[in-house]
Amino acid sequence: MSHGHPLFARVYARTSRLMEPGLGAHRRALLDGLSGRVIEVGAGNGLNFPHYPEPVTEVIAVEPEPHLRALAETCAAAVPVPIKVVDGVADALPADDASCDAAVACLVLCTVPDQGRALAEIRRVLRPGGRLRFLEHVQAASPGRRRAQKALDATVWPLFGGGCHCGRDTRTAIERAGFGIDRIDHLTSADTRIPFPASPQILGTATPR
Ligand SMILES: C[S@@+](CC[C@H](N)C(=O)[O-])C[C@H]1O[C@@H](n2cnc3c(N)ncnc32)[C@H](O)[C@@H]1O
Repeated sequence: MSHGHPLFARVYARTSRLMEPGLGAHRRALLDGLSGRVIEVGAGNGLNFPHYPEPVTEVIAVEPEPHLRALAETCAAAVPVPIKVVDGVADALPADDASCDAAVACLVLCTVPDQGRALAEIRRVLRPGGRLRFLEHVQAASPGRRRAQKALDATVWPLFGGGCHCGRDTRTAIERAGFGIDRIDHLTSADTRIPFPASPQILGTATPR
């Protein structure tokens, strides 16, 4: 199966940079305090890479989309932390069991075809005591906004967003996958510049129970 989304990839490569003045601080918070071997799922064009702290000894950055992967490789070459950009998908992570100290999911659980499978894979590759760090846009709190998200997800949103869904209940998916939420902050467009319908976001950490 091809994972090329050439139009989305080119649009994301440009528009994602426009959100960095808001999102950058949250990317830093997402990665703050990490150390050792980290796997990043769906690394895109590598916008998290400059924010990895130096105690991180290796990042395996998994990205299936060829154009974004090429941009991520350029970004990896420009940062101090060693980052290996690899082709792969969340459903079948290219890492051994219990081989990673942490996993990072940033704006990707909205897009993976099966959140349960992706999260089971993240669990598999985490060592005992390892943690998932997440920054994800999620379903809205109000019923009216949820209805709007649902309508968009059933029509145009996944077409323009490379398979993205704006209204997923990702917190529940993380808990159903057997993680306990250690910390969670709720963000909005005002914090990150990510526009509605992807405005409600969660930033946090979770540990396999
Ligand atoms: C909205 S972008 C986010 C990119 C990056 N994580 C960031 O924070 O800017 C979603 C990313 O998920 C990737 N993706 C899509 N399907 C995937 C899958 N099944 N497994 C892993 N990554 C996937 C896309 O190619 C894209 O790079």
